[in-house]
Amino acid sequence: MAADPDRVIIFDTTLRDGEQSPGCSMTQPEKLRVARALAELGVDVIEAGFPAASQGDWESVNAVAREVHGPVICGLARCNRADIELAARALGDAPRHRLHVFLATSAIHRQYKLNMAQEEIVRNAVEGVRIARELCEDVEFSPEDASRTELEFLAQVVEAVIAAGATTINIPDTVGYTVPDEFAELFRYLRKNVRGIEGVTLSVHCHNDLGMAVANSLTAVVAGVRQIECTINGIGERAGNCSLEEVVMALKTRETFFNARTRIDTSRLYPTSRLVASITGVSIPRNKAVVGENAFAHEAGIHQHGMLRHRSTYEIMRPEDVGLSRSSLVLGKHSGRHALRQRIEELGFELDETEFNRVFTEFKTLADKKKELFDGDIEALVLRAEQSAGGPWTLVELRTVTDSGGPAEAVVRLVHADGRSVEQTARGDGPVDAAFKAIEAATGVSVVLKKFELHGVTGGEDAQGEAIVYVEYNRRTYRGSSVSTNIIESSTQAFLEVVNRIELAQRAGARPREEQSGAARAAQTAV
Ligand code: KIV
Ligand code: ZN
Repeated sequence: MAADPDRVIIFDTTLRDGEQSPGCSMTQPEKLRVARALAELGVDVIEAGFPAASQGDWESVNAVAREVHGPVICGLARCNRADIELAARALGDAPRHRLHVFLATSAIHRQYKLNMAQEEIVRNAVEGVRIARELCEDVEFSPEDASRTELEFLAQVVEAVIAAGATTINIPDTVGYTVPDEFAELFRYLRKNVRGIEGVTLSVHCHNDLGMAVANSLTAVVAGVRQIECTINGIGERAGNCSLEEVVMALKTRETFFNARTRIDTSRLYPTSRLVASITGVSIPRNKAVVGENAFAHEAGIHQHGMLRHRSTYEIMRPEDVGLSRSSLVLGKHSGRHALRQRIEELGFELDETEFNRVFTEFKTLADKKKELFDGDIEALVLRAEQSAGGPWTLVELRTVTDSGGPAEAVVRLVHADGRSVEQTARGDGPVDAAFKAIEAATGVSVVLKKFELHGVTGGEDAQGEAIVYVEYNRRTYRGSSVSTNIIESSTQAFLEVVNRIELAQRAGARPREEQSGAARAAQTAV
């Protein structure tokens, strides 16, 4: 794919490895939004999901394959015909697509997970790649847990799958165990001992359990790897995956050291990162490299002094290079369409006319409640408008009564997309608890509240509050979020979003892990 030998292919797996981590699940419209943002960002490959994991996964991969153009669209499959054919069918509509097949190779996985001998692993891996090649020209193979696999055996598997037709060999550090020098040695070994390796793209897939995913990926580039698998904000299993924005900015900022480049439009990094944070509810730590709120803030006097003399004293990247163009410009109720549109564009968002009109209306409503609107407020309005898939339940009325002594009472009126209108009253420990109980009674969906977060979107006494709610339902985790100047309202809307997600997931056939078919269950535990 990369004609330029110094180009590094960016393979984004936010929608597969990122999405499969607890609390990060996305609905199909959300996955499409992220996939479109990734295409705009300029990623080369989008791993859109694992079609055999569930019907919902299959449909999402298929929707991305049909609707998102530019990047290669990839689907994951285990090394068996049923999985591979399912994935191929899901991807069929994408002009350029890739099948990614994997099988664990380490002794630990062979013994405890697969109960397979080495010869069986080689046979299955080769068979998987052959089937995939019958259906697709572009086939990637991953020996799962490669970094804990005996080098000789790893080389044997890799050589066999290259002979069977794999075009990309991805080396996963599945449990984030390796360290840079050891990882570089692994690639040197493979390059020296595997016949045919010069004819394939070498790839790396690092998890961050010891905080080394980015460092290990960069070391692999020095060792000749030309594809990095990563996720936006580093989301993913356990401590996450290699963070796309960090690895890309490291390659850009230290281009002369790495002598390698990507096709990423780095000015899209910040808005894409915000979009994924807002959709998944996994917030970005203030001190996160590249996209954290403090990444370009200079507090210490000596630093500020240096910065005033020359930015390069304490700044190795410019905020605008990553799409961060924050300003202290404040908008208010007298600001017009033009000012709002300009600010939205400066923040890196592109809205069509309908979306903009919706944001403008909400902007005016908010400006009536809140004197000054900062960048954080505008971002929240845009992200909320972009996400408002809406329904099936909508909150039409919320009333709460509370006094310091006794329980609070909430009345909610909800309407359903099928035309039902339900009003319910409930009592609780406080107005938020009462509103949650009223929604449960109205919708018949009873959940276990796991976590409830509330924080200000900006500073100031009239700041908007963002509520994030995590619940467990039928042994799955669901999340909802909402922003409002009224925190009882944002909490209630966040809770209703959770109920809506549950209803949508049930329609898409989501079942608790224990009750899934053997294939889907193994599919989910295998990666
Ligand atoms: O971490 C891992 O090993 C994976 C593979 C499927 C690439 O996610
Ligand atoms: Zn992984």
